[in-house]
This record gives sequence, C-alpha cells and structure tokens, in this order.
Amino acid sequence: MARAVKKKVLVIHGPNLNMLGTREPETYGSQTLSDIDAAVKSYGAECGITVDTFQSNSESAIVEKIQSLVSGGIHGLIINPAAFTHTSIAIRDALLLLSVPIVEVHLSNIYRRESFRHTSLVADVAVGQIAGFGKTGYLLAVQAMAGLI
Ligand code: DQA
Repeated sequence: MARAVKKKVLVIHGPNLNMLGTREPETYGSQTLSDIDAAVKSYGAECGITVDTFQSNSESAIVEKIQSLVSGGIHGLIINPAAFTHTSIAIRDALLLLSVPIVEVHLSNIYRRESFRHTSLVADVAVGQIAGFGKTGYLLAVQAMAGLI
C-alpha cells in the first residue's frame, strides 16, 4: 500500500533574525535562529509535517524564494517578514501569488511597540497572525498550519 506523502511547510525568516540570541534579547529572547529552526522541525515531525526553513536579509531573495513556491512543492507557508512586515509591498505582492495558507509570526507583540510596527502589509494576506509569544509563536503556527493543510 502506498504511504501517505507528508505535507510540507516552509518557514521564512526575514532580516536580522539570523542575529537572534545576541539581538535585543529582552525583546526577542535568548534563543538562536538555529534553536527555533530545530524546534519547528521537531514539532512539525510530531504533527506529521515536514518543515523546511529559510532566512534572508535580502528583500529580493525573499521575493524570489516565495516566487519559487508558485509552481508547488509546499502545502503551507509560515513567515516572519521581520522589518519587511512594515515596509515591503514587494513581499506582500509575492505572497499574493500563492494559493497555500500563510501564517504570519512575530516573536514580539508588534502592537505594544513603536507605532511604525503596528502596520503589517502581510496581515490580510495571511490566514492569521501570531505575535508576542517568542519562539512558542512558531510552534503555535506549526500547530495551526497542521489544522489547515
Ligand atoms: C519582528 C518584529 C519586527 O517589527 C522587527 O522589525 C523584527 C522582528 C518580530 O518577530 O517580533 O525584526 O518581526
């Protein structure tokens, strides 16, 4: 009997998230991006999902990564666009190319911070947004995605 193919989810991390661990730990926590990636992969496996991760500091690299998903290959996208959340129409437009569910994640509660962080250009493209729970937010996103795909 053919085995069911595991659903695939990609997690995209935006600029400066490669510096987690040393970057403003009072805001973003002490975990590194590798810690987060390992946790989402292992929690994904528990949920029966294969999770891949991608980080870039470059808006164009993120747009190109999203474009590469148009032809298929993933069942859902979790994205923390970091500072591009508040500025990037290009990332928003690329996300609009996708037909898979999108979940937006932020480590910090962007609504408790500076007013320029209160606007997300991707929020209405996503099924939902999780903000303010640190690393746990990514795990909640995987859990939510498991229910969506
Ligand atoms: C962030 C919030 C953004 O405002 C900020 O620019 C980041 C990280 C978060 O995860 O809390 O780089 O997306």
